[in-house]
Amino acid sequence: MKRALPGSRMLCTVGDARMAPQRVLCAGRALVVWMAGERPAVLDDRCPHGNARLSAGYVLDGRIVCPAHMWGFAPDGTAHAPGTDVAAPVAHSYKCWISGDRIWVYLPHPVPQHPGAAIPV
Ligand code: FES
Repeated sequence: MKRALPGSRMLCTVGDARMAPQRVLCAGRALVVWMAGERPAVLDDRCPHGNARLSAGYVLDGRIVCPAHMWGFAPDGTAHAPGTDVAAPVAHSYKCWISGDRIWVYLPHPVPQHPGAAIPV
């Protein structure tokens, strides 16, 4: 029997994340999980621009697009304003991986706090 790494947690199936961004409550955090191509991605489910739920958005070119003002967030947390190449690392990303048909995340202890709104609203 394989043992999970300390701090690792199962979030959802690959199929669920491929179908739509998933909001998962895990260890007191609200996370958004999606598939960026063949790789999973996990961010806090809170847009640093204006606090909207990223899980209510959609995936475009591997980025999750916030439903409020359409900023796109790459798996590393870098944000892009719509129609620009302006990028800034603003959202906290988590190390994640696929094992079997499940997506797992590593949550360090203590979990880092969100950096806060780094983009003017
Ligand atoms: S609240 Fe997400 S882009 Fe503005």
